[in-house]
Amino acid sequence: EIKACLFDLDGVLVDTARYHYIAWRELAEELGFVFTEHDNERLKGVSRAASLNILLEIGGIKLDEDEKARLAEQKNNRYVEYIAKMDSSEILPGALDFLKECREHGIKVALGSASKNAMTILNNTGLTPYFDAIIDGTHTSAAKPDPEVFLLGAEAVNTAPGECVVFEDAEAGILAATRAGMRSVGIGSPETLGAANLVVPSLQQISVAALRESFAAV
Ligand code: BG6
Ligand code: MG
Repeated sequence: EIKACLFDLDGVLVDTARYHYIAWRELAEELGFVFTEHDNERLKGVSRAASLNILLEIGGIKLDEDEKARLAEQKNNRYVEYIAKMDSSEILPGALDFLKECREHGIKVALGSASKNAMTILNNTGLTPYFDAIIDGTHTSAAKPDPEVFLLGAEAVNTAPGECVVFEDAEAGILAATRAGMRSVGIGSPETLGAANLVVPSLQQISVAALRESFAAV
């Protein structure tokens, strides 16, 4: 039985992936190299510090820890400027309806995000009231694919991992769900999210009934 739905934020509920990309691309430009949208796929679901390491590797640049901390802060300051202007129009198609439907069916709703900016985004888009529990990058010590963020989410809504379903747009997030002993729905393309139990293009193609049906035999 499905008793809780755990949602990733960036790329699942809101369209923030492009702001992350623009902010990283600007940083790369200043460092003197081109950072493409294809490169950016590697940063999805990955923590800020780990993202910077991947970016520097792509640019072939080696820096000490102090310089890295400064650049991560610089990227975040830009990103914060972008998300400060967000509103409910940037909620992804189907997300709000599905959150409401979960609540109507008595299914608990939790956030499981790597972002330290999750609260700002939830508040600016008006999504905060739909959650029973919010676990983000300020509560975790290990990044996805470690299952920590989802295990904390399940605990916060008093639900066993086997009764939780995770919604994720990143490969690392699907792996984290599997390691947590949870079922998963990939939001995006089957090419990158093949490890999920079910893959749909967006939350528009999902309903509580469809979820129960596809996981009935699992
Ligand atoms: C994840 C995003 O949700 O959060 C990553 O997919 C991002 O792109 C990570 O790096 C950390 O976010 P923040 O807001 O703490 O830099
Ligand atoms: Mg994501």
